[in-house]
Amino acid sequence: MDLSLTEEQQLIQQSARDFARGQVEPLARALDKAGRWPAELVKAMGELGFMGVAVPEEYGGAGADNVSYALAMEEISAACASTGVIMSVNNSLASDPILKFGTEEQKREWLAPMAGGQKLGCFGLTEPSSGSDASDMQTTAVRDGDEWVLDGSKNWITNGPAADLIVVFATTDRGAGSRSSTAFIVPKGTPGYNPQEPDHKLGIHAAHSCTIFFENCRIPDAQRLGEPGQGFKIAMSTLDGGRIGIAAQALGIARAAYEKAVAYAKERKAFGKPIADKQAIQFKIADMAMELDAARLLIWRAAMLKDQAATDASVRHTKESAMAKLYASEMATRVTHQALQIFGGYGYSQEYDLERHYRDARITEIYEGTSEIMRVVIGGWALKHG
Ligand code: CAA
Repeated sequence: MDLSLTEEQQLIQQSARDFARGQVEPLARALDKAGRWPAELVKAMGELGFMGVAVPEEYGGAGADNVSYALAMEEISAACASTGVIMSVNNSLASDPILKFGTEEQKREWLAPMAGGQKLGCFGLTEPSSGSDASDMQTTAVRDGDEWVLDGSKNWITNGPAADLIVVFATTDRGAGSRSSTAFIVPKGTPGYNPQEPDHKLGIHAAHSCTIFFENCRIPDAQRLGEPGQGFKIAMSTLDGGRIGIAAQALGIARAAYEKAVAYAKERKAFGKPIADKQAIQFKIADMAMELDAARLLIWRAAMLKDQAATDASVRHTKESAMAKLYASEMATRVTHQALQIFGGYGYSQEYDLERHYRDARITEIYEGTSEIMRVVIGGWALKHG
């Protein structure tokens, strides 16, 4: 077994690190404080290939693999978790289902501008009364000749306020069990597609999310994604990929907090010596270092399996993606907590980054499937398949 990165993966990692340190990190604290959408960073990520990392070159993407995608997500999220999730939603939740389930026309229309940063995607599954129970959606799409009429609402839609298109799921045949919903691509500007004002949240302040209303929103059948009734499976298989991105985001957040805590522990003196000399601090650092590595290995394995699944239909990564997301997100909560503790009062201050990392880590245990749902997925898979 070889855990070393290929030359291409190292190049992408380095280019993401340079971008993150040079352009993202200097803005991150101010973006968070102001809750400002980082339009200039989204544009730059498009130009550098980070908005379509695993989209094939023939569709305008960078044509890299999913390990590279996870590496880039870790670097960018270490600088700014908000910028990380904007990138993640465009890559994994909006571009990936179009690539996997779209018609040739849909791929040609959307993938290149999404990869280039000219168009931004979002993903509409969650509703006010259904988050974890994703199949219980109240939004409907009713067929009317060559069109579909969408009515309902979606909420917590990351990228929603700025998005140029949404991959959205609606009930088309209530009572048909796992075949009751269908996916659609709805472009911004379609009458009846109404994104609302950004939500107010605990963290990731610069990554705007919102509620979106669909009111008599008519779209042609050509904008249906996949077959009628295939919506739930498209959503679940998309989330199998999305969870790798969120795991890598959590890893980036945790790594940033860890690196700052290590540097601080070497500088800060107490009782006449740097606090890094104290075992109480060394034990925290040991646990953090080990957990970061464990999360990274789970993420790389899930990403490698996703790459294999692209050419081998027998390969699944549902369980491995859920494990990576569950472990990395809970790890990020623990690591940012301990890193803040090492900083003491300065960690609690808005003059430093620790409180931002601490707040930003928390969402990774909630979106794209809560920790509880990850345990349901892993447990269900383990009992069925081992
Ligand atoms: N890939 C493909 N198909 C899948 C699948 C997968 N990963 N998981 C399940 N399916 C299929 C099953 O095989 C089954 O098919 P059949 O009926 O043909 O046998 C069908 O889907 C139903 O499966 P389940 O009975 O397991 O479904 P369930 O209703 O019990 O739900 C669940 C399973 C795991 C709880 C699921 O609802 C779930 O993942 N919930 C969490 C949703 C979520 O992650 N939401 C996040 C929203 S997105 C977000 O946060 C975006 C953002 O803005 C950042």
